[in-house]
Amino acid sequence: METMTRGKLITFEGIDGCGKSTQMRLLERYLAERGFTVVPTREPGGTVLGKKIRSALLDGGEGSVEPLAELLLYAADRAHHVRRVIMPALNEGKVVLSDRFYDATTVYQGYARGFDLTLVNQLNELATGGLKPDLTLLFDLDVETGLKRTLKRGAGTGAEAAQPDRLDQEPMTFHEQVRAAYLEIAAREPQRFRVIPAAGSVEETFELVIKEIQNLLN
Ligand SMILES: Nc1ncnc2c1ncn2[C@@H]1O[C@H](COP(=O)(O)OP(=O)(O)O)[C@@H](O)[C@H]1O
Ligand SMILES: [Mg+2]
Repeated sequence: METMTRGKLITFEGIDGCGKSTQMRLLERYLAERGFTVVPTREPGGTVLGKKIRSALLDGGEGSVEPLAELLLYAADRAHHVRRVIMPALNEGKVVLSDRFYDATTVYQGYARGFDLTLVNQLNELATGGLKPDLTLLFDLDVETGLKRTLKRGAGTGAEAAQPDRLDQEPMTFHEQVRAAYLEIAAREPQRFRVIPAAGSVEETFELVIKEIQNLLN
């Protein structure tokens, strides 16, 4: 029997340093305070297996990971994550917040690395079983500010601090491509995406987030 309440899946996307993790933590607290059961998660690394895949992606042991292996590892992480974490939580009526989801593969592996977009879409479809976010927040920020923020993050404390993202080391043109690709896919699905300008303060950006999620949770 269909459950009466299906939860909601909200995904956080954007270039490194745009504020995804920061805004997700704030939204998690905001929703929990309002009585929602919130499941914060991430890709890659939202499961025990996913954490192993994440560490393999960051350091495969032979220098950079082959782009095709990378594409398939993201798909494997997602296949497990969707079935073991996201779907069960949605079926229990929970609000799932995911720090990146399949749009990141479309953008990084498809647009930026150049894998055929039809293939990437098929892999995404296979990995997700057709699951789509109810809402995708795209934090849009210029690449330079994003990179500055990630360098600052490296100086801080906490789980992400010690390990700046490997992708930070890509050239500026790569990040520019990623930003442009995100905006392009957002424009194609305006009902799912909300583009949030992310150059303001943490508080200013969070106010924009709150505005965008109101309708969804009413
Ligand atoms: N609006 C903001 N203004 C200034 N610094 C920010 C802002 N949002 C996040 N930061 C800081 O920038 C760094 C990157 O933010 P983070 O949320 O980790 O980005 P992402 O998860 O998208 O890579 C962190 O050190 C964070 O504290
Ligand atoms: Mg992050």
